[in-house]
Amino acid sequence: MKIKVKEKTDLVDLKNFLDYSESVTKDDDTFQKLMFVYKMAVKELNTKIEIFKEESKFLYNYDLIDHVNVRIKEPESIIKKMKKKNLTLNYEQMIENINDIAGIRIICPLQNDIYSIKNMIQEIPGLETVKEKDYIRNPKPSGYSAYHLIVRTPVKLSKEVIYVKVEIQIRTMAMDFWSSIEHKMIYKPEEKPTKKQKKEWLNYAKTINKLDQKMMLLRE
Ligand code: GTP
Ligand code: MG
Repeated sequence: MKIKVKEKTDLVDLKNFLDYSESVTKDDDTFQKLMFVYKMAVKELNTKIEIFKEESKFLYNYDLIDHVNVRIKEPESIIKKMKKKNLTLNYEQMIENINDIAGIRIICPLQNDIYSIKNMIQEIPGLETVKEKDYIRNPKPSGYSAYHLIVRTPVKLSKEVIYVKVEIQIRTMAMDFWSSIEHKMIYKPEEKPTKKQKKEWLNYAKTINKLDQKMMLLRE
């Protein structure tokens, strides 16, 4: 007789938490349960980031983090993105391929603060980095600049620990100023932007980057 070895049941991945082969329907229980887990992941990470913010102010008299924004992607946007990516509309595909359901945006004063913050985040016990993109050293063709991390963070519930993916964007105030406006006018516009407009925005991004660099030198 084969003895069934008990698996590490306290380490249940998110996809084991629900019947993930079901098709995605935005009002069903599975969707609600999933959104709850993403919400808790962001809540926990946000608290840890707030501690870094308070610590830098209290111990080093420096505002390393200006502010933090968090958001959970709207169900309609999740489904829209899945369709755009030609994914089968089931929860497995959703969990595996949509990395920005839970999102945290951290805004800081200077470019080198971004790297300090990213290192602090990556040292959080239990947190794993799934992907990272340095759009500061390699800006996007649009001019977009920021540091992006996709992390997997544990959420401890009463019966299990669930690992959840969260997208973290770290930007300077200047980068955030550019991307907030560009997002509405160029990245997700109502009308398609012209070549001239795109070029203009790229030039604004370059100007902002120069300014960011100068401010960093001033502080040094
Ligand atoms: P998707 O989220 O599937 O597009 O994945 P990706 O791998 O292309 O992600 P990426 O890290 O490039 O960008 C994800 C997020 O960054 C977007 O949802 C935006 O919030 C932001 N972003 C990326 N490019 C731009 C840009 O050109 N302008 C602005 N304003 N935001 C951008
Ligand atoms: Mg996104």
